[in-house]
Amino acid sequence: MLHIWGRSPLNGHVKISGAKNAALVIMAGALLCPQECRIRNVPSLADVRRMAEILMALGISVQQQDDSLTINAQHIGQSHAPYELVSQLRASFFVVGPLLARLGIARVPLPGGCAIGARPVDLHVRGLQAMGADVQIEHGIVQACVTGSSRRLQGARIYLDYPSVGATETLMMAATLAEGETIIENAAQEPEVVDLANFCRAMGARIRGAGTNTIVILGVPSLHTTDYSIIPDRVEAGTFLVAGAITRSEISLSPVIPDHLTAVLAKLREIGAEIVAESPNHLRILPMQTCLGTDIETLPYPGFPTDMQAQFMALLTLSDGDSVITETVFENRLRHVAELNRMGADVRVKGNHAIVRGVPFLSGAPVVATDLRASAALVLAGLAAEGKTTIQGLQHLDRGYENLESKLKQLGARIQRVVADAETVDLPVLPVSLS
Ligand code: UD1
Repeated sequence: MLHIWGRSPLNGHVKISGAKNAALVIMAGALLCPQECRIRNVPSLADVRRMAEILMALGISVQQQDDSLTINAQHIGQSHAPYELVSQLRASFFVVGPLLARLGIARVPLPGGCAIGARPVDLHVRGLQAMGADVQIEHGIVQACVTGSSRRLQGARIYLDYPSVGATETLMMAATLAEGETIIENAAQEPEVVDLANFCRAMGARIRGAGTNTIVILGVPSLHTTDYSIIPDRVEAGTFLVAGAITRSEISLSPVIPDHLTAVLAKLREIGAEIVAESPNHLRILPMQTCLGTDIETLPYPGFPTDMQAQFMALLTLSDGDSVITETVFENRLRHVAELNRMGADVRVKGNHAIVRGVPFLSGAPVVATDLRASAALVLAGLAAEGKTTIQGLQHLDRGYENLESKLKQLGARIQRVVADAETVDLPVLPVSLS
């Protein structure tokens, strides 16, 4: 559990790590290449270690050195991803596209539901079927194969009913090695989709339009080695900006790509924050004088990110007004409300809306993290609250924030982790060399 003694002013600089969501999909994307690929700026996170375990279970060599991973998928020994690993990490479903593209066959268990909603994979499956794959779901396992003499997927025109990040990424990876041209319409435009496209292009893939709602991929027979560095994590950067705002502190952050934070920066400024760009990849938030209420609706990029909704709710609980937060991306992503209310917040949920009435202060309390970003929201609330907050459920936090406590400590936060037996995360440290 994490103990936080609130109300310590923060000050200083934070180094932002590589983007978790880009790293996870790019690790899967390395399966597309029959040569060794180097991926840099990979954050040290439980989710990244789980993805590495899945790749190793497929017989692929994964080596770690500092923040770099070297992945060699010359020989893929297995087309079947093990249930025990896939069930722990939804992102592991990303291996379907590359396995199908490389081997013409993939067997991956359904990733199942998770705390924030059902999260089906129907859009991934329908897109792969449009590309000629025979996909059956039996006993909870997605079994996909490509028939025909070439064993290659066929380019197709695919319209996504919803701009799903995961489906766009699965189909883009599958299409890199397909025969002919694939057009993904109503594609997700998230920066992580663009990072994956850039990684694939660095391996020789022919992709254009990533970052718009239409992505065109011209399949090539094979890809080649590359050395690629992951973009900075926009959600981690946004979380630290909210840490500055909620504690009325001055914090600077780098490296960041401010264009990836447009919606977050606009909302912070609307609430009353002053943020200056010190250089193209360096932002500074100044101590906030007043915090106004505002309305927020989560949307696909470039709209306001669902991954920042909980953190903004923590901030708005302390605003001088009322706010309405509407979650449209996931159906069950307001579970932090009960925990924030336990700390003295005044938030009511009606369907997918949270009505937040600002209160003058929060009080430290024992709370439980329900998912990754909810756990970050509770840390932020704890930093601003009077007295001590104790957060349980740190396995969520460890999935997505690299060294959060030590980064906050460096800024002056009073925060301490106490490892209780139930929370010990039992994950192997990646050896320096592993095949
Ligand atoms: C990714 C991110 C996650 C982020 C989310 C939205 C990763 C590892 N995770 O998740 O942090 O919150 O994007 O920005 O990159 N859906 C379907 N059918 C499908 C696929 C999705 O109905 O086949 C629905 C989902 O249930 C959800 C919505 O579409 O309600 C958005 O999901 P999606 O964009 O696919 O998010 P993920 O890729 O799962």
